[in-house]
Amino acid sequence: MCYNCPSEPFAEARPGDRPSRRAVARLLMAAAGLSALAACTPALAPEASGTTSAASGTASPAASGEASSPVPSGSGSTSTGASARTSGAASPTSSASAASSASASATAPSAAPTTTAAAAPPSAASRLPKQYSLTAPASPWVIVNKHRPLKPASYVPADLVQPRVALAVTGEAAQLNRTTAAAAERMFAAAAADGVTMTLASGYRSYATQTVTYNGYVSSQGRAAADTASARPGHSEHQTGWAFDIGDGGAACSFQPCFAEQPAAVWAKANGHRFGFVVRYPFTQHTITGYFYESWHLRYVGAEAATDMRKRGIATLEQYFGLEAAPGYR
Ligand code: DAL
Ligand code: ZN
Repeated sequence: MCYNCPSEPFAEARPGDRPSRRAVARLLMAAAGLSALAACTPALAPEASGTTSAASGTASPAASGEASSPVPSGSGSTSTGASARTSGAASPTSSASAASSASASATAPSAAPTTTAAAAPPSAASRLPKQYSLTAPASPWVIVNKHRPLKPASYVPADLVQPRVALAVTGEAAQLNRTTAAAAERMFAAAAADGVTMTLASGYRSYATQTVTYNGYVSSQGRAAADTASARPGHSEHQTGWAFDIGDGGAACSFQPCFAEQPAAVWAKANGHRFGFVVRYPFTQHTITGYFYESWHLRYVGAEAATDMRKRGIATLEQYFGLEAAPGYR
């Protein structure tokens, strides 16, 4: 999660620190993102997916509005996050189809959505043999963004476990749901086999933890800037157990723009789909996702969907599932 944050791990819990560093980081991010983009080589064969839950109902967008019933569940784990950001398209648009035209600039995601549901293309995902719910939080295809809060806002995965991977955090932040944990174990092992060090830098976050994290950003940067880096409580993929942030064991680029150029991020971008992961907030797609590039934030959707997205050159889950763009809260 995070842009504009200090480089230390856990910085998300105490965001804000050095504005000048963040300003520099913003500039670096564009270059970092472009390099990473160039470094990415397409295509790889699918492999077995490990999706679990099901439920049908594909591209049926839902929800709007803010979650109203905060229900902490928190734990005393270390939150995390922090980071720096890039930017993407110059003019925030709302239609998912506008995503591909993005070009670099320093514009923040728009807080004024103008999207219409009618602009959403058909769901490419509907061609896959297995279909999953886009709204149930226990579904590997649940879409959580600024238009689609978690329901219930108090959701806590029932199957949180600690994956057997290199951990940079403890407590709840070291947990993922069972399916994601198993996929992460396979991915981290494959990365290690390729000589790439990868750490789990931030996993599950309860509603309570996300509240602390988001409020920290608001305190230090203001609400508008906070919304480009950190999800509001009840709107974070981290609360689902399906997403996590990776590190590489070094603090220098953790959650920073330069992480995109580190071996862990380059490897994850090129190989994550084989294990069911997508880079959820890609470079230049903030007008769709609502967040600037997070080269460290991986989201499990299953190997079939992740590989299909890659083959089709579809960058975001919103586009893949035919959902409206969510650049800002409504
Ligand atoms: N940084 C991502 C958007 C989050 O807070 O979940
Ligand atoms: Zn994240």
